[in-house]
Amino acid sequence: MSCTATETQIQEREDFYDSPYLAEHYDLFSARFWEPERLDARKAHDPTSTHPFIVLDVGTGSGRVLSGLVLGACQDAQVDLADDDIEFVGLDVSPHMLSRAAETRPIPRGICTSWVLGSALDLRAIPLLKGGDAVKVDFLVFAAGGIAHLVDAGQTEAFLREVAAVLQPGSGRAFVSFMNAVMDSADEESIDPVKEQQELPSGKFPGIVYRTINASSEIVGKTHIDRRDILVIKKETDGSERVLERNTISTRLASWSPEEFAGMVQATGLEIVDTIKERVETYYALKLRG
Ligand SMILES: C[S@@+](CC[C@H](N)C(=O)[O-])C[C@H]1O[C@@H](n2cnc3c(N)ncnc32)[C@H](O)[C@@H]1O
Repeated sequence: MSCTATETQIQEREDFYDSPYLAEHYDLFSARFWEPERLDARKAHDPTSTHPFIVLDVGTGSGRVLSGLVLGACQDAQVDLADDDIEFVGLDVSPHMLSRAAETRPIPRGICTSWVLGSALDLRAIPLLKGGDAVKVDFLVFAAGGIAHLVDAGQTEAFLREVAAVLQPGSGRAFVSFMNAVMDSADEESIDPVKEQQELPSGKFPGIVYRTINASSEIVGKTHIDRRDILVIKKETDGSERVLERNTISTRLASWSPEEFAGMVQATGLEIVDTIKERVETYYALKLRG
């Protein structure tokens, strides 16, 4: 089998959500590590409430978690999604991930769901949340270790301040996850998905496979750096291969210890009410203090 690099575009990318190929690659990659999401917004829903019930998935990516929450709620006879005032919002900075969410996650008709381009650092700018105190978030998620993308100085605290500003006092909950392998207490047993060398066939682009090579990670201070090359390869019918793109990815992730994160939560007026440790990630359930 020959592999030629002619016509290859070398793409230097900070993250791996930054093209239609990479958006599909993320879904194929994550399906190998994330169990179906076990979060359930139904427990937090009070049908007698006079406020709209708002579910916000920050860093929604391709909508895996948000669509799971919508479908979970649809199966519950207690929740009348068409009649109750319930809104689902998926927020992300990557237009490619949002396009994939809209394209691949069917939302039943009549369910208020929007895919919104925006930042975790500016939750108050989400159009739905501009109504001030009358419109607060009841159930917020930042899944799959996405918070670690807030790696520059002060960003984790800035996000937590945004959470505190938009969360429903009392009953509102925010579920924030860290990858076990990235948190600054990672034990040898932690599964690190990034270290897997793999080849994943595209379901969307005929003849395309995604091949990950040269995966490595290092810790510099409080930053965990993942590096890998993701090749987009066209397999021809004669068995030869053509490299269409070589994505040289370098992802910087914030690596806090559980104690450091707890300190930031405390300083921003929130408190941790539960810790859910799973195989690959750990969720912290947060509420407003007081
Ligand atoms: C690990 S993926 C998680 C995707 C999805 N929530 C899931 O569980 O499959 C992290 C996502 O966070 C997004 N992201 C990174 N920085 C962000 C920011 N500042 N604001 C909003 N989204 C961000 C990325 O574009 C990516 O889609």
